[in-house]
Amino acid sequence: MLARSALRTIATPSSRLFHQSAARQTKVAVLGAGGGIGQPLSLLLKNDPLVTSLSLYDIRGAPGVAADVSHVDTGSEVAGYAADQLDQALEGVKVVVIPAGVPRKPGMTRDDLFNTNASIVRDLAAAIGRVAPTAHILVISNPVNSTVPIVAATLEKAGVFDPKRLFGVTTLDVVRAARFLAGLSSVSPAESPVTVIGGHSGATIVPLLSQSEYGKKITGEAYEKLVNRIQFGGDEVVKAKDGAGSATLSMAYAGAKFTHALLRGLNGEKGVVTPTFVKSPLYADQGIDFFSSNVELGPNGVEKIHEIGPLTAEEQKLLEACLPELKKNIEKGKAFVAN
Ligand code: NAI
Repeated sequence: MLARSALRTIATPSSRLFHQSAARQTKVAVLGAGGGIGQPLSLLLKNDPLVTSLSLYDIRGAPGVAADVSHVDTGSEVAGYAADQLDQALEGVKVVVIPAGVPRKPGMTRDDLFNTNASIVRDLAAAIGRVAPTAHILVISNPVNSTVPIVAATLEKAGVFDPKRLFGVTTLDVVRAARFLAGLSSVSPAESPVTVIGGHSGATIVPLLSQSEYGKKITGEAYEKLVNRIQFGGDEVVKAKDGAGSATLSMAYAGAKFTHALLRGLNGEKGVVTPTFVKSPLYADQGIDFFSSNVELGPNGVEKIHEIGPLTAEEQKLLEACLPELKKNIEKGKAFVAN
């Protein structure tokens, strides 16, 4: 019962596939499993029938989280690994989700986290490149606009980078956009999906409301307010938590939702499309080689990167504000690995 009802919330309605593909062996690792995101994310992944084995790693507390989560009566096996067991944690994994690193406190931007999180993410990426070089890597650790290029450059150095297998998780922006728009339109969030493109911080988050049935009805001041709330929704949580961190529960939900979408694609389901921050040709001619847009997920990871489609003048302005900042964030990540 528990598995079923929870699934309905993290999955799209195509549950037809669950029985078929649950038979496939998919080992998923969470690096940073002891943290505010890592714990509920591990629980949600334990509840995902497409996950057959769960490998939980953190420099603190992962064996405890694993023992706890392992008692949930779903099919997957769970193992926890201590600080010095990263290589063991990564053995045989197909998907690695990374929420390791420090979160924001009030007044901080995501870029303020760079100094601490850049090296954490680089070191984890190096280990993945060594032990599980064909794993799909889902980066949650902020600043995503920089940490994804850091992972790419680290894997490139090791000679194992495949752009089809690296994803910045921007799903929380997509989740927030649908939820906030639903509230304004008095519909269910399932009816008000919004494509969010660009990156994952402030002005780099560009919601394409004009492409949404309900979003295009929002105009004037209400439109400005909605865009601002989607771009800075994370600040609401940071402020309300008052020094105790940033979004953890909604992020765990979003992380599990994206992981599930990827697993559906890996299992051969067609038409799984969601925004994610990947190595992308869309703005590469402007020196921006990572970008979030709708991506079709398939057996090899990235199957197809969609064009962004028609934009209104307002969205064009948002995109113009996004691109230079995103470029700086990407270059900062690359420079960190190069030096
Ligand atoms: P947290 O501090 O509660 O947990 C982080 C965990 O990472 C801790 O358990 C810590 O021990 C662990 N850790 C630190 N260094 C590690 C290493 N080298 N290897 C393995 N684990 C390590 O932080 P929280 O709230 O879980 O946030 C984690 C990250 O996710 C932050 O960078 C935060 O900014 C980011 N985040 C990303 C979002 C997104 O939309 N992509 C949304 C919200 C947060």
